[in-house]
This record gives sequence, structure tokens and C-alpha cells, in this order.
Amino acid sequence: MAQGVTIAGTGSYLPEKILTNDDLSKFVETSDEWIVSRTGIKERRIADEEESTSHLGSKAAQKALQQAGMAAEDLDLIIVATITPDTLTPATACYVQQQLGATKAVAFDISAACSGFLYAMKIAKRMIESDAFKNALIIGAEKLSAFVNWEDRTTCILFGDGAGAAVLRASEQGEGRILATDIGTDGKQTHLLNIPGGGSACPITMDNAGEGLATLAMLGKEVFKHAVTRMKNSANLVIERAGLQPDDIAVVIPHQANLRIIDAIASRLAVPNDRVFVNLHKYGNTSAAAIAIALDEANREGKMKRGDKIVMVAFGAGLTWAAAAIEW
Ligand code: UT7
Repeated sequence: MAQGVTIAGTGSYLPEKILTNDDLSKFVETSDEWIVSRTGIKERRIADEEESTSHLGSKAAQKALQQAGMAAEDLDLIIVATITPDTLTPATACYVQQQLGATKAVAFDISAACSGFLYAMKIAKRMIESDAFKNALIIGAEKLSAFVNWEDRTTCILFGDGAGAAVLRASEQGEGRILATDIGTDGKQTHLLNIPGGGSACPITMDNAGEGLATLAMLGKEVFKHAVTRMKNSANLVIERAGLQPDDIAVVIPHQANLRIIDAIASRLAVPNDRVFVNLHKYGNTSAAAIAIALDEANREGKMKRGDKIVMVAFGAGLTWAAAAIEW
């Protein structure tokens, strides 16, 4: 059994096109002032028409592989976390496998919304620990712009496109490792945040095609309350399981949905704000990609040094939540 699992490389990719709050206020009744004060978001990225979730994910993955010093052919596992797959089947991970040329890798998707990247991390860690797999690529990738109702100001201002990736493998002497993970689900709250149409429960037909059923629907206030409680509990659990105190934590990487949620988490965890990584002003909420992108940016900006303790914590539709404590 592997002695521990380390993050050997990270990568991220954001589409070039920027949609600002002022741009949005030209087609829905909103304002930069409202969006910034209620969410902290200033702008988000929008993928081109020909760019799908797998393309975003593959570009992030190439950077993670490069940093890990690993070739795509060395991968034996690819997990893509997404709620905006290229197609309902096959899995987006299969397209990524093809695009990377990762011919030896088993590839599949998981759907756990904004918690997906940390779900993937836990699954990949266990699979590496079982010695069945050596080198895993986990990706959080979303093209949410394809599933947003651009006439609904309560949701369209929140979301953006992007992808982040990490290469996981057994840790060697002196390397960091994943210390503890937690994942959880409350299926009683499926109604709070979902894409109601386009699945088997409500296929899109000639009759309902104009109703926008295949777009994100959310009861924002309810989601907000659950988010704070669940993320606080999940983060505390991994901190405890890893044998840490809040003071030991160098960087907290929370899901990037709303600055008010992030501030509430930071104060409940008793971690000073300057140790909490925030990039949602640039990208909005990119669901499964958010933590993955933030991890890569924090890494490349030199926020973590060898031995630092990091906590990542997420929350999303399902409802799902997840956290991980890592020694960098
Ligand atoms: O990643 C998955 C997890 N998702 C989340 O974490 C989202 C959690 N929820 C939130 O972030 C917040 O609930 C929102 C940002 C979605 C909404 O903020 P809020 O402070 O809960 O606002 P609200 O829904 O209570 O709306 C307040 C007012 C309403 O007007 P009235 O009824 O007071 O007259 C809304 O109609 O603001 C209005 N409003 C807007 N006004 C301008 C709602 N959206 C907008 C908008 N621009 N875009």
C-alpha cells in the first residue's frame, strides 16, 4: 500500500473572453454595485462556442502534467468532475483521454457539483493507496455558460467557465501528502440547486424546448445557509482528523461562490482573512473547477511552501460538501 499520496503538479485554464458586471447589466436588470456587494464577483470567463468542457479540462491537465514532469502516457487514471459534460455519454474524461493521448488511462466522470474536485481527490487517493493505480489526473472543468439562463438575473451573474487539474501519485520521502479528506451528501436538498431538464426525469422535447429547463435553477438564500454550516463542519472534521489546529493552517482554499460565504467560513474557522485564498472576483463561480483553479493559482503564486498545511473546502448541488487537509 502506498505510504501517502501527493499532489505532484497543478494546472488551470481560463477562456480568454471576459464578461464584466457592466456587460451583464446591458442585458439583465442588474448593476456592478449589486453584484460586487452581494457576491464579490467582478467578472467571469466565457468559453468560445467550439470550446467544450473537455477542451478546457485538457488544457489545464497539460499544465499540471508539465509541472509534475509526467507524460500523458504515464497516466493510468483520469477523473473529471463536472456538471456540464461535453455529452451525456460518453464521459467527458474519455474525450480528455483522447485529447491528451493518455492511452493507458482508465477514464470516468463524477457528478458532485462544486464539491466534485474534492470528491475526485478522495477517490483517486484511495485508488492509488490500493496500489491498483499509480498516476492519477483529477480535473474540475465546467462550461457553465452553456447551462445558464441568461435572462435570469438571480443566477446568470454568478457563474463562469474554466478548468483546473492536479496530478496525484504516491508520495516519495520528504514530499507532502494528503492528510485527511471528508465527503458528504444530503439528498433531501436536491430541489435547492439543479438543472431540472435534459435528463431522464424531464427530457427536452419539441413541446418544452423554449422553457429553459436545461439551465441552472437555485434557491440562493437557502443554499447560502446550508453552505456555511456544511463547509464549516467539513473543514473542522479534516482539521481534526489531520491532528491540526486552526493556527497551523497556512492557506484555506474555499469554494469560490460568494465572498460573504467565504468570510463567514473564515470567521467560523478562526482563520485570519489573509490566509484565505480568493479569486472569485475574476472568475465567478466555476463549480467543480473553482477549487482546482484556486489551488493552481495559489501554487503558482507561491502561497504554499513545502510542509505548509492547506485546507480546501467545498459545497454544491446535491447538496454535497467536501474538504481535504494537505501537507504541501
Ligand atoms: O456553488 C453552489 C453554491 N451556490 C451558492 O453558494 C449561492 C448561494 N447564495 C448566494 O450567493 C446569494 O443568495 C445570492 C448572491 C444568489 C443572492 O444574494 P441575496 O443577498 O441572498 O439576495 P436575494 O436573493 O435575497 O435578493 C435580494 C434582492 C431581491 O429583490 P427584493 O425582493 O428585495 O426586491 C432580488 O430580486 O435583490 C434582487 N436581485 C437582484 N438585484 C440586482 C436578485 N438578483 C439580482 C441581481 N441584480 N442580479
